[in-house]
Amino acid sequence: MKFFLDTGNIEEIRRVNRLGLVDGVTTNPTLIAKEKRPFKEVIQEICREVSGPVSAEVVGLTTEEMLKEAREIATWAPNIVVKIPMTEAGLEAVNILSKEGIKTNVTLIFSAAQGLMACKAGATYISPFVGRIDDIGEEGMQLVRDLKAIKDNYGFKTEIIVASVRSIAHVQQAAVIGADIATIPGSLFPSLWKHPLTDVGIARFLEDWKKVPQ
Ligand code: E4P
Repeated sequence: MKFFLDTGNIEEIRRVNRLGLVDGVTTNPTLIAKEKRPFKEVIQEICREVSGPVSAEVVGLTTEEMLKEAREIATWAPNIVVKIPMTEAGLEAVNILSKEGIKTNVTLIFSAAQGLMACKAGATYISPFVGRIDDIGEEGMQLVRDLKAIKDNYGFKTEIIVASVRSIAHVQQAAVIGADIATIPGSLFPSLWKHPLTDVGIARFLEDWKKVPQ
């Protein structure tokens, strides 16, 4: 499973990139707003740091607005993926952009039907939002299972990005299901390599090492 970082923060990206664990980056308008810097500047800096795909989202709601923004964003770097919301206008834009060779990530997917339509429209990636589904009392990971089955049934090339990830359990379950990618918040990522028993184990070894004649 590939690891994407779900952040607009370059320091969070550099920290994990030093470990060789960043396969790509996703952003959204909320994450970009936190950086308090121009959208294009943030995205281009990330694209220089990371060689894998970097998703940058359009904010227009009509097909024409989305196409105009997407064609502009796609010129910012060779590894750009344009994030398009899961709407009728968005599907039309994805259909056109896929024929122009512009990679797309269809975002805000909350049902298997939406995912299936995005695959058929030509999306490069689809992003089911597991955490936000959990928030309304349903099981977000069930949607990932369903989308994986649909992808396998019909041989879609579209990659599934498990998004709105909130916990280590989400990442582990995504890998068990066989999702292509999990996009993980920069603040959550370090907890993936930590375990309290590892820290206890190191402390005990160091304590015992003092008893070894030097
Ligand atoms: C990723 O593509 C999404 O923008 C992101 O995972 C949304 O996460 P949230 O539900 O925590 O805002």
